[in-house]
Amino acid sequence: PLPAPFQVPLPIPAVLASVARDADADRYEIVQRPAIVEILPGVRTPIWGYQGTFPGPTIESRSGRTTIVRHRNELPVPTVVHLHGGRTPPEHDGYATDLVLPAGGRYTAHAGKHDPDARLSHGARDYVYPLQQKASLLWYHDHRMDFTGPAVYRGLAGLHVVRDDEEDALPLPRGDRELPLVLTDRAFAADGSLRYPSVDQTLSSVPGVEEPYVEGVFGDVLLVNGAPWPVAEVSATRHRLRILNASNARRYDLALDPPPPGGGSFTQIGSDQGLLAAPVVHDHVPIAPAERYDLVADFGRYPVGTEVTLVNRLGTGTMAHVMRFRIVRSGVEDSHIPDRLGEIEPLDRARATVVRDFSFRSGKVGGRHGWTIGGQPYSPTRMDARPRLGDVEIWRFVADLHHPIHLHLVHFHVLSRGGREPGPYDAGRKDTVDLRPGEAVEVIARFDGYRGRYTFHCHNAEHEDMGMMANFETT
Ligand code: C2O
Ligand code: CU
Repeated sequence: PLPAPFQVPLPIPAVLASVARDADADRYEIVQRPAIVEILPGVRTPIWGYQGTFPGPTIESRSGRTTIVRHRNELPVPTVVHLHGGRTPPEHDGYATDLVLPAGGRYTAHAGKHDPDARLSHGARDYVYPLQQKASLLWYHDHRMDFTGPAVYRGLAGLHVVRDDEEDALPLPRGDRELPLVLTDRAFAADGSLRYPSVDQTLSSVPGVEEPYVEGVFGDVLLVNGAPWPVAEVSATRHRLRILNASNARRYDLALDPPPPGGGSFTQIGSDQGLLAAPVVHDHVPIAPAERYDLVADFGRYPVGTEVTLVNRLGTGTMAHVMRFRIVRSGVEDSHIPDRLGEIEPLDRARATVVRDFSFRSGKVGGRHGWTIGGQPYSPTRMDARPRLGDVEIWRFVADLHHPIHLHLVHFHVLSRGGREPGPYDAGRKDTVDLRPGEAVEVIARFDGYRGRYTFHCHNAEHEDMGMMANFETT
């Protein structure tokens, strides 16, 4: 039986302590290991976790200060760590074949798709993040070729917050009025284990999921920060809700129930890659896998004693509600939302030197149902685009179904959606854009930072594992 909603207190993932702070870098260590945790009350669930927790510990960094994370792999399979949204040199970006082989094991990486340029590490690897980028909510997760979906599902995901002076100077809610909310859905077997329909349950050789799950793996338990339908006791003041959809395939459409008097559940202040130029008020907020929305909810608009539910308008049954806020006390309001938020460099069409087209569709992959980009399934060695370092390019996407498309290295702006101006949810600096069925979307990006090989892909993790990934190389 599923637990009753709104009983478990909202957990906040612990902030990881650094092991050393040098003049030029902060160092951290994370062990990737199996663990048994209690997700459903009274039930023991085996996971794979960063430090044995799900979500993993949160890393907090300052913009422009190098963060070095040593990941040690004590799992039975190879892993790859990608800092999603990080502006990261290619050798530290977690390319899908840059495996960290299990510590102490004699694992031979599966030979299915050989990549002569793979950078293998044995047991551990230092990932170096210069973080020459703005304040934003990033996340780190497993990214091994063919097995990202099941590895993330088992728990390999955590937050990485980047802060800077520009954002710190704003009078936004902070301290315990800033809540990171990591949304995932999971299914549990009768013995308490997570239920994921991998063809190969050892996650070592055969990629993909059983046929009925090819469009994506969905659960019937909604977890926020790893807890089922939790409850948070809050003051009747503004709160900053920093929302990440870390689900494999599920999209949500978030709203407050009851809505505040006069409507406008949320004021959006930021997107995937940090602050918007100006706030945008929404009654509801759709969020696809890997997207982040930085929202302010003003609980001061409700009387003390009100219970406000964060609902999912795309969900039915157990998926219709996410968590609850119990407004238990009044509080001194010390925040406000300024009319001007962040500095955003405009990227207009006239600056683009190249236009590229990519279609995202289902197709045959190795004789089975899968997913393709430009008609082709992923190959680690095929280069699909070579932007010149520093150039501005327009990439045009079309999709058969919903596909949340993510580019490594760069951020982009949405230029158009369905042939029209971008929609109300497209504002700001994005690294993931949700394509809707049959819809064309144009994005514009400057490909600067580092030279090298990166990927772009659908962030529906099952689509990604079953072919919907491609490469670009900044040259
Ligand atoms: Cu969040 Cu290529 O990934
Ligand atoms: Cu997809």
